[in-house]
Amino acid sequence: MTTLLHINVSPRGAESTSRRAGLRVRTHLAAHASLDGGELTVIERDLAADPLPPIGAAFTHANMVVAARRTDADPAALALSETLIAELQAADLVLITTPIHNFTVPAALKTWIDLVVRPERTFAGTPQGKQPLLRDRPVLALVSCGGRFDDRPGSQQDFFTPYLKYVLGTIGLARVEVIRLEGMVRPEAVTHAFEHVEAWCGSALPALLAAA
Ligand SMILES: Cc1cc2nc3c(=O)[nH]c(=O)nc-3n(C[C@H](O)[C@H](O)[C@H](O)COP(=O)(O)O)c2cc1C
Repeated sequence: MTTLLHINVSPRGAESTSRRAGLRVRTHLAAHASLDGGELTVIERDLAADPLPPIGAAFTHANMVVAARRTDADPAALALSETLIAELQAADLVLITTPIHNFTVPAALKTWIDLVVRPERTFAGTPQGKQPLLRDRPVLALVSCGGRFDDRPGSQQDFFTPYLKYVLGTIGLARVEVIRLEGMVRPEAVTHAFEHVEAWCGSALPALLAAA
């Protein structure tokens, strides 16, 4: 049995290109799992249908108490964070389907990150810097963008990919594959991007599953 954590971010429901691309990957994942005689168990974390609250004073305080290696953190203040971390720990692989918002992760995904990346819980503070505390498992991010990332005028810089890889690497997820779906305001680009996702599922998905 393979357990997938699927983090869906777009607020655009069925219109969302990242959600639609994610469904295609899910179909391939389920087919591969059944070919292997197993099944795909999916943990759904939909950050648009079920938004996470922005981090507040109680969480911030409890987080710092834990960071100071004290044991008197308020469990209620960390309950949501613990749920999200448990979902991650239960997963063999992670699928993140998301738009880019203002050159990087949407606020909803950043809130998930803030609740999961915690000192002395998912990373340890050491004199050598932050050391990951979670087991590695592969992450696939399907990232939908209105614009382009190339050398032509009007292109933009990608802050999403290096940031996501850096922050997930901090907690131990070192294998982050990012597929950008670019120019999603143009129908022909959507067709091309979906063809690319299909081709990637045929060529690279088996290796990702084998590594899970
Ligand atoms: C608030 C906001 C900010 C955006 N910022 C960017 C951006 O910086 N770069 C980009 O390429 N597209 C940007 N877009 C466009 C979306 O990334 C694009 O429409 C994407 O395909 C939406 O994905 P979805 O259909 O899965 O929601 C932005 C859209 C919104 C609503």
